Amino acid sequence: MAPLAFRSSLVFFFFLSLWVSLIPGTISLTCTSQKFTNNQLYSKCLDLPLLNSYLHYTYDSSNSSLSVVFIATPAKSGGWISWAINPTGEGMVGAQALIAFKNDGVMTVKTYNISSYSSIVQSKLSFDVWDTKAEESDGLMRIFAKVKVPAKAESLNQVWQVGPSVTAGFPDKHAFGQANLQSKGTLSLNGGQISSGGVDSRTKRKNIHGVLNAVSWGILLPLGVIIARYVKTFPSADPAWFYLHASCQVSAYAIGVAGWATGLKLGSESKGVQYSSHRNIGIALFSLATLQIFALFLRPKKEHKFRFYWNIYHHSIGYSVIVLGIVNIFKGFDILHVAHKWKTAYIIVIAALGGIAILLEAITWIITLRGKSNKSTKPYDGYNIGQSRQQPLTT
Ligand SMILES: *[C@@H]1O[C@H](CO)[C@@H](O)[C@H](O)[C@H]1NC(C)=O
Ligand SMILES: *[C@@H]1O[C@H](CO)[C@@H](O)[C@H](O)[C@H]1NC(C)=O
Repeated sequence: MAPLAFRSSLVFFFFLSLWVSLIPGTISLTCTSQKFTNNQLYSKCLDLPLLNSYLHYTYDSSNSSLSVVFIATPAKSGGWISWAINPTGEGMVGAQALIAFKNDGVMTVKTYNISSYSSIVQSKLSFDVWDTKAEESDGLMRIFAKVKVPAKAESLNQVWQVGPSVTAGFPDKHAFGQANLQSKGTLSLNGGQISSGGVDSRTKRKNIHGVLNAVSWGILLPLGVIIARYVKTFPSADPAWFYLHASCQVSAYAIGVAGWATGLKLGSESKGVQYSSHRNIGIALFSLATLQIFALFLRPKKEHKFRFYWNIYHHSIGYSVIVLGIVNIFKGFDILHVAHKWKTAYIIVIAALGGIAILLEAITWIITLRGKSNKSTKPYDGYNIGQSRQQPLTT
């Protein structure tokens, strides 16, 4: 039965490659098909990554002017859309915003100086703005504007937003979903390489955080448990199962700690938004998993009378880590608003692991029951390696 170890590593690599093959996403361009009533042509366009928004623009370096059209759908009909440049930082605070909405039945653009989350004042902006205009059709709103940008600027910090309503000629607060908080980025005036159009390094790090944790806590750890529980039923797989189990869990732990650290970093940078339960579960997971690593070193010998208690301790912490890990991965999916396909892919992987576990559980029972002729009539209970070892494997 030596090929067993080989087979379980095949399973392992199968899932790993399944996961990896699902990672790359594709970006479809749609702004290129958008046309304007004034027949004006813009030299560049971006499908902004969040809030279904688009930006068309032409930069005229001879007089440092930028001509833009921002297109988005308000959060609700009767709402507003906004595009802003932040000359002093990233994000909303400090942004110089153009906001379009319907005022007394007429689409208008107004300019706002956003000096803090609580101070949104209609005023002139810190740079010249001219030729502003707003349109609405089929639920989409468009802001047209020309702005003066600092001479020799190569990029600008842009922020965009959509809101649900307008009260007495003043736009109401927008939602605070992840998309609303991340809708910002660098706009490259010449359309060069740095034009990420909003996919900033933070978003990239969030994705890395998600992938590391989903692979480690979400896939490798459950796989390691399956190896320990089922492969060790086969006497000839001893001690191979142990090395497989230990190396699977130790690598899961290493990747998981990296993922955990990126999560803590992201959490400490996230001002104003806290995901306390995701964070607390993450900390609990790290602590429990670290205990498991200690357990490896404190493991009594098989015959030792404390081994029974050690097994209970090791198994109960192990199963808690699996459950908490999977719960936290789904919490993370919600926080990051991951595309449906990711969630589905993960559900498929975890369901496949579950299915394999059920199948192996059944096989284990059959083997155990066939071994009834032995003095052991108890089915394999996951604790007693010595007993399972005496059972005949083949009939
Ligand atoms: C810059 O040049 C463009 C076209 O050449 C013109 O439409 C625009 O008014 C100019 N802007 C300024 C600030 O002079
Ligand atoms: C925007 O508001 C801040 C704080 O009130 C002020 O310091 C700044 O000068 C204002 N900017 C403009 C362009 O009015």
